[in-house]
Amino acid sequence: MNKLVDQISALLADAFQAAGYDPAYGKATVSNRPDLCEYQCNGALAAAKAYHKAPIAIAGEVAAQLNHAAFSQAEAAAPGFINLRLAPEYLCAWLEQMRTDTHLGVPQQEPPRTIVVDYGGANVAKPLHVGHLRPAIIGEAICRMERYVGNEVIGDVHLGDWGLQMGLIVEGVRERQPDLPYFDEQYTGEYPDEAPFTISDLEQIYPAASARSKVDAAFSARAHEATLRLQKGERGYRALFEQIMKVSVADLKKNYESLDVHFTLWKGESDAEPYIGPMIQRMRDEGYAVQSQGALVVEVQTPEDTKDVPPCILLKSDGATLYATTDLATLVQREEDFHPDQVIYVVDKRQALHFEQVFRAAHKTGIVRPETRLQFLGFGTMNGKDGKPFKTRDGGVMRLEALMGEITDTVRQRIEQNQVIPPEKMEQTAHTIAVAALKYGDLSNLATKDYAFDIERFCAFEGNTGPYLLYTIVRIKSIMSKYGGEVDHLPLRPAENPLEKDLQLCLTRFADQLLLAVRDTAPNVLCAYCYELACAANRFYHDVKILQEPDEEKKQGYLALLRLTSRVLETAINLLGFTAPEQM
Ligand code: ARG
Repeated sequence: MNKLVDQISALLADAFQAAGYDPAYGKATVSNRPDLCEYQCNGALAAAKAYHKAPIAIAGEVAAQLNHAAFSQAEAAAPGFINLRLAPEYLCAWLEQMRTDTHLGVPQQEPPRTIVVDYGGANVAKPLHVGHLRPAIIGEAICRMERYVGNEVIGDVHLGDWGLQMGLIVEGVRERQPDLPYFDEQYTGEYPDEAPFTISDLEQIYPAASARSKVDAAFSARAHEATLRLQKGERGYRALFEQIMKVSVADLKKNYESLDVHFTLWKGESDAEPYIGPMIQRMRDEGYAVQSQGALVVEVQTPEDTKDVPPCILLKSDGATLYATTDLATLVQREEDFHPDQVIYVVDKRQALHFEQVFRAAHKTGIVRPETRLQFLGFGTMNGKDGKPFKTRDGGVMRLEALMGEITDTVRQRIEQNQVIPPEKMEQTAHTIAVAALKYGDLSNLATKDYAFDIERFCAFEGNTGPYLLYTIVRIKSIMSKYGGEVDHLPLRPAENPLEKDLQLCLTRFADQLLLAVRDTAPNVLCAYCYELACAANRFYHDVKILQEPDEEKKQGYLALLRLTSRVLETAINLLGFTAPEQM
């Protein structure tokens, strides 16, 4: 279905043509002076230069052609604007179409583009902490938005499961249980099904091993050695690796689920391993991979560069692979499996240089096609109120579960005061609202910026917050249930009062704002729209007595409008990655 603003532009184009001007000047935009008009056209200002005529004269001639039923007002205004207001019947007819459209008026991408979103990025055997919150939240929103506009989206968690951290864990396990068969090189039997550790064991083993490697050179050397042997595919190491993965992934899944984050693929760096050998061989054969100071690298500096871009390292001198190697090999795999049009990486912005190198190497060596768009969406840090990276009270890295617990407690205290939630629904409701508070608090900021996590502000039921959006939806639902009748098929009515019309106009902008958010990979744009819509809904609701309205037809029109509002809001928050409770 056509966007309303495009439909209006088409009418403007006809009017420019009828008045003897190039129809290309007929472009409508949402007014930036809502006190004067609802839409505006600046085409006469641009046409003035080409036609050597006063803009206001052109605007006047075009406006005279706009005697279409779509407009209740079409006026030229100095120095050459055309100011437009929509006829309520026309607006209502468009909304009526939007209401029955499967995608609420959002045009679908034709043909669909295939997009891989690399987000999450948790590291195996390390507890999920706040540093992995932002990629999960932002990446999930991007996947959902892209899918809604008709694209084919593959979301990949891309676990960190291949670097030195794995060698550290292996050595950590060996210290504790040196007699395990995994470490016995003579062992030829089957390895046990049961993992020799729990997730809490693993979560102790990694930090301890990591700390030790910094002070104990012999231990560090053993960890490097173990990493290499694992990467070379030694049987015992590989079997132990599988156990680490099994235990860790089960725990990660649980954590991501609780955040309502769902990946299409649970791949990791280790899955790229089979692609590494052939990839490097080809790069050597084709002359892309060269020796440099003992390492094998791909040069990615170009003559246009004004800064130094270091080469992309494929192999260290000991033959170990690096982060860039697995990222390149993963692109080989993705090209083979999905042939994507675009790959979006949602990763900490401090990794910008790494991705610059990887993208250049991937294009240079033909791993991806020239037209494949490789995009790095680098996000900023989540800070505490003190402006420093968010920490626990005693200065440690905050675990995700602990953070969710704190937010849920704060929310629970709020809703307990309202006294509408029965005890058996309390936990679930508090969790639903907490997810909204956290995700909206994050997504409403520009992803690239750092932001301050402020639990009180994020959880407030008033203001620009997740809970406020939920509250608006819950309020509308409560009106619907007080009305009692079926509301889904009640007809919309042409607006009669200004706040009603404002709300209707705001609804028509859903498609525009979502498409903008998708174009700029910017969920914050959709957040801003949700807030605007919630505010418009609340103004309308406070101004108009809905259930007390004596005129039954009018009342039904109001209800139909609120129903469409709650559908759009619920759809939009769902794209952002959260849902509304029944009550709060
Ligand atoms: N595991 C990495 C980290 O914690 C993030 C992975 C990002 N994705 C990628 N393809 N490199 O920093």
